[in-house]
Amino acid sequence: MAATFATFKRLKDKGLAAVRQGDYVAAKPYLIQAAECMIDIAEESKDPGQRAEQESYARELLELAKDCDRRQARGGGGGGPRGERVREDGDSGAKAQDWIVREKPNVRFADIAGLDDVKGEINLKMLYPFQHPELAQRYGISVGGGVLLFGPPGTGKTMIAKAIACELDATMFVISPAQIMSKWVGEAEQNVKKLFDAAKDEKKSVIFMDEVEALVPRRRDQQSTVMQRVVPQILQEIEGFDRKADRALMFLGATNEPWSLDPAMLRPGRLDAKIYVPLPDPEARFKLFEIYLGKRPLADDVDFARLVEATDGYSGADIKAIAERAATRPFLESVAGAEPRSISMADVLAVIADVPPSVGPKDVAKFDRWAAEQC
Ligand SMILES: Nc1ncnc2c1ncn2[C@@H]1O[C@H](COP(=O)(O)OP(=O)(O)OP(=O)(O)O)[C@@H](O)[C@H]1O
Ligand SMILES: [Mg+2]
Repeated sequence: MAATFATFKRLKDKGLAAVRQGDYVAAKPYLIQAAECMIDIAEESKDPGQRAEQESYARELLELAKDCDRRQARGGGGGGPRGERVREDGDSGAKAQDWIVREKPNVRFADIAGLDDVKGEINLKMLYPFQHPELAQRYGISVGGGVLLFGPPGTGKTMIAKAIACELDATMFVISPAQIMSKWVGEAEQNVKKLFDAAKDEKKSVIFMDEVEALVPRRRDQQSTVMQRVVPQILQEIEGFDRKADRALMFLGATNEPWSLDPAMLRPGRLDAKIYVPLPDPEARFKLFEIYLGKRPLADDVDFARLVEATDGYSGADIKAIAERAATRPFLESVAGAEPRSISMADVLAVIADVPPSVGPKDVAKFDRWAAEQC
């Protein structure tokens, strides 16, 4: 059956409506089907220019579908652990588009294992100046601005961003480059303006942009010309933050590809505070096992110190996954009718043996080098 624009439009509209409602699980299949439909339309297209444009539409919809996965994985459904998501509603949403998702995260610094240096730096640069504005003014300490959190995947960057918003009691605006750039959501420049305007309307706000490296134009095509206007616009907004006022406005970018960032983004006054979020050290891994394994029924032979030794090079997200998988073993046995038993050391070690660290030593070295050069 020939693909029709009507089918495409129906699928695309349903997908985008679900994105706007924050229902990423529902949105994804519609967006993928809409993209497939557009690919079919492109294949039937006789005009090469038109075909290229249609293929680019399809790619963009797929990018948005992937973004749904990422958002869902990061607690998109409920704004993270114990988090509360506040959606724009009719009367308060006059200025902000409904694609702007506000969150009031409920993650405290104390929930984050290790990363003491990172917490110290964040306290100094971000929390204390807001919490003690008179002292900050007296000593000429600048307030707010742009911060880049960089490090391997699963080390807690998103968690830290949420904790900063929570500790400041700020509203968090979560946005991805894919959404800003999406023609389907609106004009990119308008999107940026609406986002920053909505953030400025709040007494305290944190704008969090994940995968900020995606703002760098990759190809010399239509999309990159939009990027070429949008990146400077975002940088201008950050530079224009009123850093002395008692209103907190902060832009947090996170990336696990800092070397791909547009160098213009790292200049003073922009994302100038660069904070390395590394893999957990032994002490942090101990804490991670306490957090993610400690509250489950454990056999007497479970030895956290040995688990710490066995998980050198593993990320926080890896350790969380190990704890979950280790618990699955006795759970499934008891579902199958066995007498419920505690999680044993053998369960955990078997999972560790089965799951390699998600970050390799070469990647870690690359981050260390970049950190040494840039920070
Ligand atoms: N230091 C930590 N303390 C507690 N939990 C952690 C820590 N690091 C990671 N985690 C756990 O791993 C999960 C993934 O962490 P998070 O999403 O913050 O990583 P990330 O650095 O943003 O990863 P990515 O680069 O892939 O976006 C979190 O939900 C959290 O449960
Ligand atoms: Mg993240």
